[in-house]
Amino acid sequence: MPFPTNFQWGVATASYQIEGAPYMVGGGRSVWDMFCERPGAINDASNGDVACDHFNRYKEDSALMKELGIPNYRLSISWPRVMPEGVGAVDQKGLAFYDKLVDELLENGIQPHVTLFHWDLPYELYLKGGWLNRDSADWFADYSQIVVDKLSDRVASWMTLNEPQCFIGLGMQSALHAPGDRLNFKEVLLAGHHAMLAHGKAVQVIRARSAKPSRVGWAPVGAPSIPESNSQADIDAAREATFSTPGKTVWSNTWWHDPVFFGKYPDLEVEMFGSDCPVPKAGDMETICQPLDFYGANIYNGQTVRSNAASGEPESVPHHLGIGRTVYHWPVTPDALYWGPKFFYERYGKPIVITENGLGLSDWVALDGKVHDPQRIDFLSRYLGSLERAIDDGVEIDGYFQWSLMDNFEWYEGYRFRFGLVHVNYQTQERTPKDSAYWYRDVIKSNGASINR
Ligand code: FCB
Repeated sequence: MPFPTNFQWGVATASYQIEGAPYMVGGGRSVWDMFCERPGAINDASNGDVACDHFNRYKEDSALMKELGIPNYRLSISWPRVMPEGVGAVDQKGLAFYDKLVDELLENGIQPHVTLFHWDLPYELYLKGGWLNRDSADWFADYSQIVVDKLSDRVASWMTLNEPQCFIGLGMQSALHAPGDRLNFKEVLLAGHHAMLAHGKAVQVIRARSAKPSRVGWAPVGAPSIPESNSQADIDAAREATFSTPGKTVWSNTWWHDPVFFGKYPDLEVEMFGSDCPVPKAGDMETICQPLDFYGANIYNGQTVRSNAASGEPESVPHHLGIGRTVYHWPVTPDALYWGPKFFYERYGKPIVITENGLGLSDWVALDGKVHDPQRIDFLSRYLGSLERAIDDGVEIDGYFQWSLMDNFEWYEGYRFRFGLVHVNYQTQERTPKDSAYWYRDVIKSNGASINR
């Protein structure tokens, strides 16, 4: 058996990227609604007002997933749809949307995996300081409780935050994502500390209030380094690079994972960041470090590293000329799904779940009415082949969520980049499964045996 029998095959999406109808019923605005209004912020001047209209088409989309044989679906909840002000009053109609969606998924034989936060912070909370405000951890815990109380009789798989590196780093340091701020590094790290506290408190809420036993994790960016060769020196160098941070940046694995899994900020970074480091209050690190059931990671690519012949230090190797690239210009590096899981499993000792992996292209409907995306099939075959190798080498891997079920609002790129297995025509909202969707259906059906190796 190439993949374990209970392996979780799935697809992922996020609320702001697909739902549309942000203020339908009584929902509130999110920082993404605000950010999209900023001239020049989104490359095609679009926003998530309609997106894939999933808010109105969730039944059709659930049926489509069933037709495509997808057994697991990672979705996220829009905080402002549930709590328009972020705190206090609950919009029951907004909450009811997720209630109905979960029912619909289950009726179609699809297990929901719920992410509580995929970047759509309530705008009202931004006005109160957002993640810079220490109270954000409690706001998030209160919101989590509302969702858990409503859905946990049917949802048994939870993720707290998606990619803190992005909503803190891209959102608050480099202004590429909402809310579009450029704070100094000390403030960025403080916001990150509060986000980690929010994660810990939400885990406590899920554990305390779930109506049935559930699995809990989170879904940060996983950025592995890949050894240039199989020499021990290069492997050690790649491991060292994976677990170190290249300067004053939040693009780090350990900065986020060491507190969450070990209850401690990593020594190397604490020394490098110096007085910019957050000063945890008593009990903070214990709150952040809640037992998790899996190590989630969104992995798209990796950087090749070797051991410098003279110093033995890790040294980045430029990607070879003409390397395959996605529309984001992200390099195609299938080995990232071997070395990432391997290194993360060695260090943190938890089963790995690939919470996102996939590629953006600019697919269109061909004259024959189909969408041919051989590059996506090749990309996914190669990455899944690496994942399988990691499993063969003893890495415990519980699941894989392809990003994404359907084309959607790709943040500052708007609708220009398409990551879906299903093509979306944004004029008509017509869904057309791409060749890769049928390919993935066979992969799932054969539990990986049909992957071209
Ligand atoms: C990840 C995000 C996801 C999607 C993919 C392409 O960083 O979590 O929402 O945009 O990238």
